Amino acid sequence: MDKIVILTGAGISAESGLGTFHDEDGLWTKYPLEDVAMPEGFARDPALVQTFYNDRRKGAAEAQPNAAHFALARLQADWHGEVVIVTQNVDGLHEAGGALDVIHMHGELAQALCAFCGHRWPAPAEMAVNEPCPSCNGPGGRPDVVWFGEIPYHMDRILQHLDEADLFVAIGTSGQVYPAAGFVQEAAARGIPRLEMNLDPSETSPVFTEHRIGKATKTVPVWVREMLAHAP
Ligand code: OAD
Repeated sequence: MDKIVILTGAGISAESGLGTFHDEDGLWTKYPLEDVAMPEGFARDPALVQTFYNDRRKGAAEAQPNAAHFALARLQADWHGEVVIVTQNVDGLHEAGGALDVIHMHGELAQALCAFCGHRWPAPAEMAVNEPCPSCNGPGGRPDVVWFGEIPYHMDRILQHLDEADLFVAIGTSGQVYPAAGFVQEAAARGIPRLEMNLDPSETSPVFTEHRIGKATKTVPVWVREMLAHAP
């Protein structure tokens, strides 16, 4: 077994104090996603949307990576083959924990995107309504996060990695949002092992071949130690 592709979701950052989305007290129970995570919501009320992401950007900047983030970085560093981390998270905690080349399929809070010209730049701590774009000077600055109705980033690269993977692992994701929720199906179609680590069974649990139920800070370091101990 050489190549491992790992998909992470909000659950891996939960113990760093960041909220999940679809859980009982998740973000989408407090803020309707139609208002804060859709282009139409931004067009309707940009102030509300910028405030929502400014708060999340501040929370992410203050959060510390946890034992699960560190363990994945260690696996990446010490594994004899390739470890690809694909995350739906926009928080940057994988990199803060030492991970490299993380694929951010839902974008990053730390980046801004111009809705007019497509230019990207490091987001200021607080983005304003009509945030000016440093490239076209238009007032089109928005958080560089993927909203519902938009196409996630780097899909070609991710599907290529899945096509080459010997093991697929999903950590802390509820399997409710596609296309990420469909990656396990891609792995199943290729017949490779599929490990799920989550607090609860997810929507896609039946498609996995192994389950480790529990908090990511407990399950992930144990799994990484086992992988490194049994590596050839
Ligand atoms: P969800 O909130 O849907 O799911 C989080 C999962 O993590 C749940 O299945 C929890 O049981 C699990 N969980 C919670 N705490 C955990 C812990 N300490 N250890 C391990 N697992 C834990 O979050 P995602 O699946 O990441 O998209 O959501 C996917 C996408 O939906 C997000 O990227 C976001 C959201 O709408 C966009 O904003 C585009």
